[in-house]
Amino acid sequence: MEDRPDDVPLRIHVADLLVDQGDSAAALAHCSAALERDPGNAEALAVLSRAADRLRPDDGGERPDVTLSDVGGLEEVKRRLEASFLVPMRNPEMRRLYGRSLPGGLLLYGPPGCGKTFLARAIAGELGAGFYTVSLPDVLDMWVGSSERNLHGMS
Ligand SMILES: Nc1ncnc2c1ncn2[C@@H]1O[C@H](COP(=O)(O)OP(=O)(O)OP(=O)(O)O)[C@@H](O)[C@H]1O
Ligand SMILES: [Mg+2]
Repeated sequence: MEDRPDDVPLRIHVADLLVDQGDSAAALAHCSAALERDPGNAEALAVLSRAADRLRPDDGGERPDVTLSDVGGLEEVKRRLEASFLVPMRNPEMRRLYGRSLPGGLLLYGPPGCGKTFLARAIAGELGAGFYTVSLPDVLDMWVGSSERNLHGMS
């Protein structure tokens, strides 16, 4: 993998094996790296979903103790989150219906430091859910030389 960081099928295969071995966090990072290179890759998304299903709180995630009441302002955003996501997820019946198959995701956008990550942690805190951060630098840092290769490819 170190020799072939851009080999997406290989990466997905490795991720698949890691899920089977119980290392969902590492599998997630590989899926994320595969999707960086090939956004929307269906196989990567399938393995990602399998890995996410098996994540355990002790896989490196955290259980945030912040909630939406800690998030200042953003009243309209919080209202929409409450109605479209938190209410269904809190209701056991609806949770079963939507549950893990809740399609798609939430896209938060805005300038650095405007509270996107903070809001995401607060959502996890509201649900008592685990929170996992996979950022681009995290992914790139794992593969020695690939950040440099990517930068070189852009110049
Ligand atoms: N609405 C808010 N209410 C309370 N604190 C906030 C709010 N927005 C930001 N903060 C504070 O600012 C810090 C930085 O915000 P955060 O890391 O969530 O930004 P971000 O949008 O994820 O930035 P980046 O794009 O760099 O990832 C948070 O940890 C939090 O302490
Ligand atoms: Mg952030």
